[in-house]
This record gives sequence, C-alpha cells and structure tokens, in this order.
Amino acid sequence: MKDQPLLTPHQMGDIQLPNRVIMAPMTRSRATNKANAPTEDLHVAYYTQRATAGLIITEGSQVSKRAVGYIHTAGIHSKEQIEGWKKVTNSVHDAGGRIFIQLWHVGRISHPDFHDGELPWAPSAINPEAEVYTPDGMKDTVAPKAMTQEEIAITKQEFVQAAKNAVEAGFDGVEIHSSNGYLFHQFFSSYSNNREDKYGGSIENRARFFFEVLDAMKEVIPQNRIGARFNPSLHGTFGMEVKEDTIPTFDYIIEKLSKEYDLSYIHLSEPFTDVSGVPHAVSEIAKRYRPKYKGTLMINTDFDQEKGNKVIQEGDADLVAYAKLYISNPDLVGRFRENVETSDWDKDTFYSQEKEGYIDYEAKTRELIPTSK
Ligand SMILES: Cc1cc2nc3c(=O)[nH]c(=O)nc-3n(C[C@H](O)[C@H](O)[C@H](O)COP(=O)(O)O)c2cc1C
Repeated sequence: MKDQPLLTPHQMGDIQLPNRVIMAPMTRSRATNKANAPTEDLHVAYYTQRATAGLIITEGSQVSKRAVGYIHTAGIHSKEQIEGWKKVTNSVHDAGGRIFIQLWHVGRISHPDFHDGELPWAPSAINPEAEVYTPDGMKDTVAPKAMTQEEIAITKQEFVQAAKNAVEAGFDGVEIHSSNGYLFHQFFSSYSNNREDKYGGSIENRARFFFEVLDAMKEVIPQNRIGARFNPSLHGTFGMEVKEDTIPTFDYIIEKLSKEYDLSYIHLSEPFTDVSGVPHAVSEIAKRYRPKYKGTLMINTDFDQEKGNKVIQEGDADLVAYAKLYISNPDLVGRFRENVETSDWDKDTFYSQEKEGYIDYEAKTRELIPTSK
C-alpha cells in the first residue's frame, strides 16, 4: 500500500509522533535481579531496538511492592529501578524514540507469597478464582483483603509517587493500567466490587478511585502526558465477566474523560476473547468509542498491517498498538514501510527471563535498528 495511514505523523498532545505504529505494553519477566530493576544488557537493548515505533509503552511496572503479582516484573518505586529506567529512556531518546511507562497494580491477581504472607489488596474480598505465577510456581489465588478507605488513599499516593518517579526516570509520559482485570478494573466491575461506600454501588462510585488517582497524578505530571488503558469487553479472564452494567460503566468513564480531561490518549482493546455469544458485550470497541471520545484514541488486539491501516483510514482510531508483533519484529515500522513479511513470535520465550526470544529477533529491513550504547 502506498501512503499508508499507519506511517503518517500524529500530534498527540504536545508530542509529535512520526508514525502511528505503537509498541503495546508487555510484561516480559526480565527484571530478574533482586531489585526488580531494568538492566543495561536486557531492557536497554530491547527497548532501544524498538525505538522507531511512534511510541513505546513499557511493560506493566508495579507502583509499589504491594502492587506486584508476577515474578521478575520491573517496578518504578525504588531508587535502583529509577536508575535502571533512566538508562532505558536515555538510550531510547538518543535513538530518536519516545517512551511512556505503564503503571501497574494487580490488586487481587496476586498471592500472599508476594506479601510476606499478607493478603493482596483489592476493592472487595472476592476471589478471582485464577492462578498466579509465584516464586514457587503456579498457585491458586485467594480472597483478597477488602481495602479500607485509608488503604485506598495509600494506594492513590503510590500511583502519584510512581508518576513522579517516572518523570525523574526521564519518561515522556505514563499509561495508567486500568484494564485487563487488574486493580482499577476490579473497582469498575460489580463482579469484583461489592463495596457499600463511595467506591462501590453506582457506576460513578465504581469509577471514583480511577478519577481520584488521575486527579492526584495530574498535579505531578501534565495530563497531556498521561494515557489510560481500558478493556470494556474483557470476558472470562481473571474473574471478569461482561454484564448489563459493564458497557454503561465504560461509556461513563470514557465520556467523562472526553468532556472533562485532556489526556495524552486513551488506549482501548478490542475483546481478547470471542464475545459474539456474550450478552451485553461489544465486539467493535473502536467503532463504539470513536464518536464518544474527542482526543487521541489508540486501539489494540489482533491488528496487522492491513487492519491497522484500515482502522485509521476509516477514522475509527488515531493510533494502533501492536504487542506480539513487536516481540518478533523490532523493525515493525520498517516492515510496514517496505512491505516485508513479519516474523512470527515464539510463545515459549515470552516470559523466559533470558536474552533468547527477547533481544535476538532480527531486523530485516533497511529501517535502522538503533543499538544501545
Ligand atoms: C507477553 C505478553 C505480555 C503482556 N503484558 C501486558 C502488560 O504488561 N500490560 C498490558 O496492558 N497488557 C499486556 N499484554 C497484552 C498486550 O498489550 C495486548 O493487549 C495483547 O497482546 C493483544 O495485542 P496483540 O494482538 O497485538 O498481541 C501482554 C501480552 C503479551 C503477549
């Protein structure tokens, strides 16, 4: 295709993106050191190789010790982690790229083994009936501790501090991980939130924690440097189901963001799973939310070059985020530009903690793949 929409620039807040091919956030479990800090050998190399993306969104990074639910995930709450990320952002910037960090709290998708035997925190004491990967292998989740209002305030502060740390580490912005069944999503859904205080019950109450965090966070980082991710039709994952009030909840959140805020972008996922038989689920997320949202709209899940160009051409999204394709094609922009076939990814090395399957996928185009210094 000539003049591909994916390869045209886009003005996102005060950041000019040279193209619309975005690297989606991906946990890769390479922060194996005791500090869970990004490293020169692995993280710096990996992200720098992908610096030709319009924007890189990093792996979900825990905002505090309590926010964790997987082994070897990177954090953004300690000095070592900030120093590690500084090397990543410097190298990506030197290579001409832009990079946001995804701020993550797993809520109930965790295990007491991560918290010295204490229960993970979540809106309500409802077990997601899932499995989590702990230091001792896969274990069943438990019913979490329902957060008190004081604990909610502590968690809000952790997000604010993480945003400050992100600025210190040189990130161009942050993405709030408010999707995929993790903490914010647990507040949004009446499956995981049966609170009777101001954080539960009505749609407005279930969305309150997200907006309180956002309001506090924009005091420390401009709101046009904050993105947020939502997965309105997530079904059958991590105890999340779609029901009658699900889509109205996301309609409320996204319309409020459109009217009252000026975020960098919203990042929406088409359903992960087949929702064709699921009552109340919406299968065409971009189409539904484009008319409801005035700012930059990023879409994700199962896009390739053709579908990506089409969704932008048709005006249903501004940006397209690619996850698995970015694992195996560091020069994804070059592949699209030169119409070179994309390489397949190896599932077995998604979380394998080694260099293999992480920084050894090759570029096959003339697109310069920057290397870290
Ligand atoms: C290995 C792997 C790790 C992921 N980790 C995250 C994550 O940390 N945060 C997040 O929001 N989504 C995460 N996802 C979901 C992806 O961002 C994306 O939504 C999903 O893979 C669908 O996009 P795709 O079809 O382009 O792969 C992950 C996906 C994969 C394959």
